[in-house]
Amino acid sequence: MKVRFKIWRYDPAKDVQPYFQDYTFDVKEGMTVLDCLYYIKENIDATLAFRASCRMGICGSCAMYINKKPRLACETQALSLGTDVIEIAPLPNYKNIKDLVPDLTPLFEKHKNVKPYVIPENEQEFINPTGEYSQTPAELEEYLQFAYCIKCGACLAACPTVGTTPDFPGPQALAQAYRYNADNRDFGEKERKVQVDNPKGLWRCHMAGACAEACPKGVDPALAIQLFKRSFFFTGRKPKARLIPLNKEKPARGGIKAPEPTV
Ligand code: SF4
Ligand code: FES
Repeated sequence: MKVRFKIWRYDPAKDVQPYFQDYTFDVKEGMTVLDCLYYIKENIDATLAFRASCRMGICGSCAMYINKKPRLACETQALSLGTDVIEIAPLPNYKNIKDLVPDLTPLFEKHKNVKPYVIPENEQEFINPTGEYSQTPAELEEYLQFAYCIKCGACLAACPTVGTTPDFPGPQALAQAYRYNADNRDFGEKERKVQVDNPKGLWRCHMAGACAEACPKGVDPALAIQLFKRSFFFTGRKPKARLIPLNKEKPARGGIKAPEPTV
């Protein structure tokens, strides 16, 4: 089927403002929007800039605004959009570096600010482990769906609060803060709460829910934000993950002997 692609072009070195450029060609069944962009770059216009890597919905680099919705280009079948005109623009709510490439620096900075890693009760246990932490399937479920985030940034592009309040941490960072708070190997909840408990922080979320709809990985950042808010009022202690001592003589699970601690 012949499809007309209307693609956002902007080169800050020479363009005063962005514009849409048309490319029309036959799209075959099975081609993703990313395949179409590569087709354009390899056969029609080598100057087109976009970002992609894995081509399989894992790396999060190809998120863009396709027919006015944030989507992963590599996971979007061009013909399944059900139209012969496909408009592609960079994710909104980010600075545009060139053509379809957004500047994701704020996404990564906001993510870093919420300390997105397990903060141990006893740091020595991570430097010189004496055992392994065991979680039950139910304890894993407390945070598992939020751990599927691939940092594509689509949720920030959809969020109306990010659009009006640049300092708002945004759904990705807040969901990841909650993901670690809910992990019973972690003891960093207080530090993360200090980071987001301010008028432009967690409480700025108006519960539009657009982030959950935009997420290509089924993460529900809106839910995480509500659970995070609730945790300020209901502070039930999560049960600590059990530390199971390493048995250095017997092989651990999978037949692999526990390594000697390194100095
Ligand atoms: S929560 Fe979803 S939309 Fe947001 S960055 Fe993670 S994977 Fe992308
Ligand atoms: S290219 Fe990696 S998610 Fe699309």
